[in-house]
Amino acid sequence: MTTSQPISTSARVVVVGGSSGIGEATAALFAAEGAEVVITGRDPAKLDAAAARIGGRTSTFSMDAGHQVDIDAFFATAGVIDHLVVAVSGSSGSGPFAELSLDELAAGFDGKFWPHVRILKAALPHLDSHGSVTLVTAASARAAFAGTAGLAAINGALESMVPPLAVELAPLRINAVSPGVVDTPWWDRVPEAQRESLFDGLAATTPVGRVGRAEDIARAIHMLAHNTFITGVVLDATGGANLPTGR
Ligand SMILES: NC(=O)c1ccc[n+]([C@@H]2O[C@H](COP(=O)([O-])OP(=O)(O)OC[C@H]3O[C@@H](n4cnc5c(N)ncnc54)[C@H](OP(=O)(O)O)[C@@H]3O)[C@@H](O)[C@H]2O)c1
Repeated sequence: MTTSQPISTSARVVVVGGSSGIGEATAALFAAEGAEVVITGRDPAKLDAAAARIGGRTSTFSMDAGHQVDIDAFFATAGVIDHLVVAVSGSSGSGPFAELSLDELAAGFDGKFWPHVRILKAALPHLDSHGSVTLVTAASARAAFAGTAGLAAINGALESMVPPLAVELAPLRINAVSPGVVDTPWWDRVPEAQRESLFDGLAATTPVGRVGRAEDIARAIHMLAHNTFITGVVLDATGGANLPTGR
């Protein structure tokens, strides 16, 4: 008896936000086992470059997950989807609460919460009922770090939807992976020296002694898609950075 099964080589996998970082690494794992993978993102050049790196049976679709018309255009041609991964990133919503404008917080929801929800709703009629959905949230949902109340609200809202959706949408499975800090192109906006110093500082206080790599998170997503006995779970992938220290 087994609780997991290999992704069939005929499986169709859609990775929204698959042209970079965690999404690209996830698409690469599925493509390597022969799945048909569709990666989406806004920038067609980034998508083409990522598809070339991923190889296998990978195709691209350019769309802005913040725009319902783009989403509808994608799903109109998407066909049946076995596994959906939503790895769209936002960049607004962080900072000290007293200085965080409501417009910035709303932009944070527009950049991540609403794209995830819009994609999931639009995908439902196309998802194989025995398939899976994996959302990529963030450890900020439940970490008590100053300056992350906005991110906690955005990612916490998504994470709190996972258990009820797993019950409501069964037998379709839905899970989330909640990463800690991961070295991806998302961090390119931070100057290199500052980024390295931040990563070094975090590595020193993280039980596994390093920040995450995109592949670490991709393997967690891949496992959740494989394992047909897991649903309604938010899986922390933080290297232990979110564990209580006892101090
Ligand atoms: N890196 C971290 O430290 C970290 C930590 C915790 C959680 N996460 C979460 O992990 C997920 C992936 O992040 P990442 O670090 O892999 O980021 P990334 O390298 O910046 O990749 C983000 C992907 O999403 C696409 N994307 C962004 N906005 C989009 C939109 N409006 N419509 C369609 N596609 C869009 C990007 O392509 P285009 O730019 O071309 O659209 C790209 O393919 C995000 O949800 C992020 O919040 C990351």
